[in-house]
Amino acid sequence: MAKIQMIVGSVMGTAERVANYLCEQYSAHHSLNVNMHANAADLLRDESEFLLFCTSNTGHGDLPDNILPLFQQLTDNSPDIAGRHYALINIGDSSYPTFGEAGLLLKKALDDADALELMPSLLIDTSIERYPQKTARDWFQNQLNTALSKTSV
Ligand SMILES: Cc1cc2nc3c(=O)[nH]c(=O)nc-3n(C[C@H](O)[C@H](O)[C@H](O)COP(=O)(O)O)c2cc1C
Repeated sequence: MAKIQMIVGSVMGTAERVANYLCEQYSAHHSLNVNMHANAADLLRDESEFLLFCTSNTGHGDLPDNILPLFQQLTDNSPDIAGRHYALINIGDSSYPTFGEAGLLLKKALDDADALELMPSLLIDTSIERYPQKTARDWFQNQLNTALSKTSV
């Protein structure tokens, strides 16, 4: 059982639906909560929480407005998240030339803050994946769960 804070960036609801679906699917196994309006203090509120980011891409490789404040605080104020484990679900569309770039920006900010990515990000291409929730569920089930069980988070 892990304590997981899911930090969501979403414009039209796809990433939010993915996060809520994972919450429903795994609430018997983990303590999960979804945060649509995270700020830096939320990253620090409980060191035992695993941070699972789930964000879409918008504009020209931009992060959604609801996760931008957190991103800006990460880059401007350097909250002390060194050593904290995280994972990232990056939802985009490969018909955009800036496919997945917003998620990469977020990953860079987390890595620059010395947070530790537990496993490679899941990149979901909504131009070919009809059911992003199911793709995320399979990744969670087969990869994230295994990685979490081997790590003391
Ligand atoms: C105006 C607009 C701009 C977008 N820009 C990008 C982009 O730069 N890179 C990318 O990978 N996907 C881009 N997308 C695709 C979205 O990330 C994708 O549709 C995603 O599923 C939306 O998730 P959301 O509903 O949680 O916001 C864009 C979509 C729209 C409508």
